[in-house]
Amino acid sequence: MITVTTIAEVLAAGDAARARGGTVGLVPTMGYFHEGHRSLMRAARAANDLVVVSLFVNPTQFGPTEDLGTYPRDLAADSAAATAEGVDVLFVPSAVEMYPDGMCTTVHVAGLTEGLCGASRPTHFDGVTTIVSKLFSIAAPCSAYFGRKDAQQLAVVRRMASDLDLRVDVVGCPLVREADGVAMSSRNAYLLPEERSHARALVGALHAVADAVAAGERDAGALRDLLVARVTAEPGVRLDYAEVVDAATLQPIDWLERDTLVALAAFVGSTRLIDNIAVSFDAGTVSVDRGRTPASTDQVG
Ligand code: PAJ
Repeated sequence: MITVTTIAEVLAAGDAARARGGTVGLVPTMGYFHEGHRSLMRAARAANDLVVVSLFVNPTQFGPTEDLGTYPRDLAADSAAATAEGVDVLFVPSAVEMYPDGMCTTVHVAGLTEGLCGASRPTHFDGVTTIVSKLFSIAAPCSAYFGRKDAQQLAVVRRMASDLDLRVDVVGCPLVREADGVAMSSRNAYLLPEERSHARALVGALHAVADAVAAGERDAGALRDLLVARVTAEPGVRLDYAEVVDAATLQPIDWLERDTLVALAAFVGSTRLIDNIAVSFDAGTVSVDRGRTPASTDQVG
């Protein structure tokens, strides 16, 4: 693996791979790798000749009162993890390398970015789509890998790629959980031991909703109420949002009859965590994707 800091070095590595007829896979990240990140690297490794992982804590996707300054970083551990996953190029640019003259251009995806996380983080997705566009231009990947943990981000990036005819296959990968069910996140590092146990309320509430769907409940309002009741019952957890939305449009729904995303965000102490489950309808079979845990997918009739 080579670790590079300049755009020119990534262009050279990508050009060389493409000149040999090879495919390029890109995994955009902000570092502090856990199994969720590593699963994306493995998916990229399995399908591409050159695997590029970007590690950049992108300032433009953080709000003014958010955690840019304290975002966890450990380049030595990240470098070891990426090497172990067979990554070819670890791209670790500075903010000056990525934004040498600031930016006059913003990539904005309307609609999909307004609800869910967009409601409380109004500038976040513009930062994400702008940096991801830049990374797509720099690495020119055939495929780029994103986790379903950030389901709204995945939908927004897919829409951007489609609207702008970007020649990249946006691949969604399973949400990876800790042994106790908590969704893996670099931000879990902020949690004090007591907060870490409160954090289990998020996945507990989503399991309650998944169980209700498996038992036949299709009323989105009832499922949302269940989600809200379960999360707000937990001390130390402050709900930001809990929504039951159409998986394609991310608009709230009344009744579950098409692919549905059940998503929530909550503050545990001062740490904002997100989590979700996905309900899919396929030829009369309803399945609930609870992420990658021992009993990961329920098939219900
Ligand atoms: P980051 O939070 O570092 O996440 C990088 C990628 O890892 C994203 O695609 C995210 O969905 C995925 N990921 C994180 N936790 C996961 C989990 N528990 N299971 C599966 N995948 C998981 O997302 C970002 O960085 C940034 O917004 C970025 C896209 C890099 C743009 O700056």
